[in-house]
Amino acid sequence: MEHVLSRFCLQGRPQRCVPYGQGHINRTYLVETERRRYILQRLSRAAFANIPGLMENVQAVTAYLAAQNDDPRSCLHLIPTTDGGCWYRDAEGEYWRVYDFIEDSLCLQAPESPEDFYQSAVAFGGFQRQLRSFPARTLHETIPDFHNTPDRYRKFHAALEADPLGRAEAAGPELEFFLSREEDAAALQRLRQTGALPLRVTHNDTKLNNVMLDAVTRKALCVIDLDTVMPGLAAYDFGDSIRFGASTGPEDETDLSRIEMDLGLYETYTRGFLQACGGMDEAELASLPLGAKIMTLECGLRFLTDYLEGDHYFSIHRPQHNLDRARTQIRLVRDMETKWDIMNDITRSCRL
Ligand SMILES: Nc1ncnc2c1ncn2[C@@H]1O[C@H](COP(=O)(O)OP(=O)(O)O)[C@@H](O)[C@H]1O
Ligand SMILES: [Mg+2]
Repeated sequence: MEHVLSRFCLQGRPQRCVPYGQGHINRTYLVETERRRYILQRLSRAAFANIPGLMENVQAVTAYLAAQNDDPRSCLHLIPTTDGGCWYRDAEGEYWRVYDFIEDSLCLQAPESPEDFYQSAVAFGGFQRQLRSFPARTLHETIPDFHNTPDRYRKFHAALEADPLGRAEAAGPELEFFLSREEDAAALQRLRQTGALPLRVTHNDTKLNNVMLDAVTRKALCVIDLDTVMPGLAAYDFGDSIRFGASTGPEDETDLSRIEMDLGLYETYTRGFLQACGGMDEAELASLPLGAKIMTLECGLRFLTDYLEGDHYFSIHRPQHNLDRARTQIRLVRDMETKWDIMNDITRSCRL
């Protein structure tokens, strides 16, 4: 590691470098010099096909955020390499980067109270506000068609047609559910294509463990893990947060009676998101509940597609794990459909 660290312009000499945090994608290390602390990361080549493009996105977004706020804890800060870049590729082809360590902060794996969930909404709403005027179009689409739902449906149809493991038969009601929602599920993509909704910078991994909270006040400091930052719609980030954050159970719960979309949590997140986001016009506001529904549909569709294809993408711990996951998402979508008018009312009432 010494060799890697020598390529970065650190203050002081590295004295300790130890594995850090609970990230699942990159290898993360805490580095200490006699003067300060840093985060060193080896980027996952398995997860990311275009690391130089990804790093250009991270650099552009962090520089833009830093220019708006003097507080060093308000965003990630990349440490330059000795040749003026922001990442280093070693002899084995591994990619490395270094950030300032965000001091006196907390990073939770899951909310311990609705207030933590609220703070994650404040962090991601604030991210939207700060990047409102950023030219989202200039970012690389490092994972092409990530939330292109019609494209997800094309892949689903192909898997269903091929049915390589003969699993379609066991998933009759689930298949029927997704087939009946195909038209509805394309709504966001249509709004994006016609320009009816503004193109925004989206984070695409809005879990609480990608938010830093102040260790004392437990209030949102900033958003981290910008590896999946891309051009998209505000409804993607909002919707995915609701999908997993407002559900009353885990993604793979088998007792479906335990799964619903909690309206209290929906309200909590929407309030935090919109307050931090600042103003939002009518069309974008109306897209938020739609985002919750479509992100849930899309995710369920991906679980079911992976089930049909033989569980290549999502790792499974039991047979039918992906089918179970698809079922919770279906349950959530159905629940949102029943609560649709209330979700829309809540969204409007949280508007500033
Ligand atoms: N700049 C930072 N300061 C303090 N802790 C950090 C910083 N960056 C990352 N971490 C910690 O490392 C963990 C993993 O980092 P993250 O970038 O989210 O990687 P992954 O993509 O593997 O999830 C985070 O959940 C957080 O606890
Ligand atoms: Mg992370």
